[in-house]
Amino acid sequence: MSPCLQDWLELLAQRAPAELVRVKRRVHPARFQSAAVVDALERQGRYPAVLFEDVTDLRGEPSPCRILSNTFASFRKIALALGLDSDKRLPLLERILELSERGLPAREVPPEQAPVRGWLAAGDQLDLRRLPIVRHTEMDGGPFLTPIVCARDQQGRYNVSWNRMQYLDRRHLAIYMSPRHLWSYFAAAEDRGHDLPIAVVLGHHPAFHLTGALLTPLHRDEYEAAGGAMGQALCITPSHTWGRELMVPAEAELVLEGRILAGRRCVEGPFGEFTGYTGPQRLSWVVEVEAMYGRPAPLIIDVFPCATEHINAHLPIEASIFQRARQAVPGVKGICWVGSGGPFNLILSLAKKTEGEPMRAAMAAIAASNFIKHVIVVDADVDPEDKAQVMWALASRVQADQDITILKNLQGQVLDPSLRQEIKSSGMIIDATRPLDRPFPRRGEVPAAVREQVDLGRYLEG
Ligand SMILES: Cc1cc2nc3c(=O)[nH]c(=O)nc-3n(C[C@H](O)[C@H](O)[C@H](O)COP(=O)(O)O)c2cc1C
Repeated sequence: MSPCLQDWLELLAQRAPAELVRVKRRVHPARFQSAAVVDALERQGRYPAVLFEDVTDLRGEPSPCRILSNTFASFRKIALALGLDSDKRLPLLERILELSERGLPAREVPPEQAPVRGWLAAGDQLDLRRLPIVRHTEMDGGPFLTPIVCARDQQGRYNVSWNRMQYLDRRHLAIYMSPRHLWSYFAAAEDRGHDLPIAVVLGHHPAFHLTGALLTPLHRDEYEAAGGAMGQALCITPSHTWGRELMVPAEAELVLEGRILAGRRCVEGPFGEFTGYTGPQRLSWVVEVEAMYGRPAPLIIDVFPCATEHINAHLPIEASIFQRARQAVPGVKGICWVGSGGPFNLILSLAKKTEGEPMRAAMAAIAASNFIKHVIVVDADVDPEDKAQVMWALASRVQADQDITILKNLQGQVLDPSLRQEIKSSGMIIDATRPLDRPFPRRGEVPAAVREQVDLGRYLEG
């Protein structure tokens, strides 16, 4: 079988016990209580995974489900999910790229052997109010799930993506899709007058969830990419509703099967988002749920959307952007988007060989993702993760009239509160690298040979 969420929890408890806390006391997720715990930890600068063992469902009754929050809130936890024990950005990005490129074809198992088919609720028995669903921030339009959505296109290729879903009623959810792959799958189905069948995975191994944030090319099968990320083929099994027409992850904790309805829209939001702001209410798409099934005491992964954990969960997107920038300019050495201090700001570092490379690298990054609006390019002697160093380069290597390029009419992010139009955005590239075509002062530094030999202890003793 492929690895499951329980395997990762055991690994975490073994390797990094301080990265996991258990809350045994009952919490009411729909009344902000689980979110408040995660928020309180974050305000203290603490980012452990939080396992809520006793939660209530939307009716206020004790639920057999449990909720896991903050799964992606630290690099170490993400690394452990990907078979790496490190909290450093670059090894982690390289690992993500290596694993996702490898890919492993999914392996089919019969439903009788699929742990996710432990119990089933369908037809009249289906009631989404039996789920614990979290309200995170005060203006949220309702309780929201933060699941992974699996869909199949006409060629049989699977897409895996992260999409927030708002509870509407016993059988309906609203789904938010920005114009990327899932959105294009649905648009193609709707053009033919068809609904789009989906499997909504509420909990699986974190490497599976991280696949949802990979910017894989449209032609790549993301069940294969998930196998690569997990280090073993993803086990899949026929869905309850569509059989082999829609295969679902067999090792998931809990799955909802449903259809994104053609020709239907509903009001969704507001929702506190990764930008740090409450995103607006807007017209979104409706999911009609057909069936729900899972393991006996399923674990639901909840991502706090307006907090560090959501930002960090974007790391696979950063890996893809890094790859595209490096393909454009091989001298690209470092990157910092996640944790750069702003949701749309990216810093790239570069061992510049010719003028113009900073622009090429920055444009490749912007072209890779509409998550990127501002790019600052620094030399390789500046650590892109160190904001003080980046600000120093900005102060000392930039002449605004010549080193800043403004881009217009980009496809932006509808969640960007600064947009003046629906989705059209501007962009900015700041070339904060030293010029190669005119003299530029050296950094003022103690000679390296002396610096490396100084033994501070000897000088300070006594
Ligand atoms: C925690 C998390 C939540 C996300 N929620 C959404 C969402 O609600 N809607 C959306 O369109 N993208 C969302 N994203 C971004 C997508 O997962 C990401 O862009 C992915 O590459 C889209 O996949 P696709 O192009 O295969 O559809 C989210 C990302 C993360 C990390």
